Amino acid sequence: MEPATLRAAFAVLDRYAYLNAGTCGPIARAAAEAAAAELRIQVEEGRWTPTFERMLELQPRQRAVYAERVGAAPEDVALTTSTSEGVVRVLAGLDLGPGDEVVTGDEEHPGLLGPLAALRRRTGAHVRMVPFASLADAVGPATRLVACSHVSWIGGALAPQALREVARDVPVLLDGAQAAGAIAVDVAELGCAFYAASGQKWLCGPIGSGLLYVAPAWRERLRAVGPTYLSLADPSAGLDAVPHADARGHDASAVAPDTSAFAVAAHDAIAAFGWPAAVERAATLAASLADALRERGRTVAPRGRTTLVSWEEDDPVAFRDRAAAAGVVVRDLPGRPLVRASVGAFNDESDLERLLALLT
Ligand SMILES: Cc1ncc(COP(=O)(O)O)c(C=O)c1O
Repeated sequence: MEPATLRAAFAVLDRYAYLNAGTCGPIARAAAEAAAAELRIQVEEGRWTPTFERMLELQPRQRAVYAERVGAAPEDVALTTSTSEGVVRVLAGLDLGPGDEVVTGDEEHPGLLGPLAALRRRTGAHVRMVPFASLADAVGPATRLVACSHVSWIGGALAPQALREVARDVPVLLDGAQAAGAIAVDVAELGCAFYAASGQKWLCGPIGSGLLYVAPAWRERLRAVGPTYLSLADPSAGLDAVPHADARGHDASAVAPDTSAFAVAAHDAIAAFGWPAAVERAATLAASLADALRERGRTVAPRGRTTLVSWEEDDPVAFRDRAAAAGVVVRDLPGRPLVRASVGAFNDESDLERLLALLT
């Protein structure tokens, strides 16, 4: 498939240089139609046995495609509503207490920091924040968990390679919100115990979708925080009911069939181009944007071969608003002098040129 054909699947790109998949990916027409078709059946036929049959047919499909994006087996992936939910489930499901140390980075998103703050208050565990780039060196004898981004939301830097060594001795929880669907992710190669990610960003799915990978070796050590009806292995077992032994025991309490239909069709829209080709194209476009910004004298924040590009502006909010008025969607990063562009395979050079034309 030609890049222009992929691009044409996303209506928003007809009008906007939409460079904001790090917040929410663009929606493919086919994904919206799949969700609408599912809802239409519910409207016209009601919601009863066939609805639940469709839900139980769609959820394994969503689980399978999400598992594919992180290189996991489907049974090792829970369907969640967000990255944050996955983080919450891991922090609440581990036995951490006073004297236990959690090491985290200084570029983390509130979706990780909020649950870490709650963990600290609730259990007395010590949370130590260190520079993102030196996370691996900070691990010591009291460290029970490393919790950090796989790709920093600030500038698109990658977690240090040396974390893979660390992961042999200490469990690592990776926040993959800016990685799943953006870059090639292989949880086995990363060696992480847990990997939480969003469906609404680089997977271009609905708000309220996400995944949590739980390594098989951690199944028995991660308590299911809230076994709910659909995460039970045998819901008819009454008071003897237990959650699925694998990651499905950490499923969100409800995943609507329209959510799953949307998520699967969104994934398929990019699969039609080819996911390996998509991540390669996005990284190349993002790198060319970073180079062009530097050529124009901008200071680009430290980044890896990822899809985020952030650079300094004197007034990032004013730049964001001026860009929006010109049909270019980028964002500022609260508290930092940076504007961030998210570059996907569905973008093209014309989007980058529209953005670059705004630099004064
Ligand atoms: C690195 C990172 N972690 C977590 C989140 C929160 O994601 P979610 O809304 O899926 O919980 C974001 C969202 O921007 C993010 O960039």
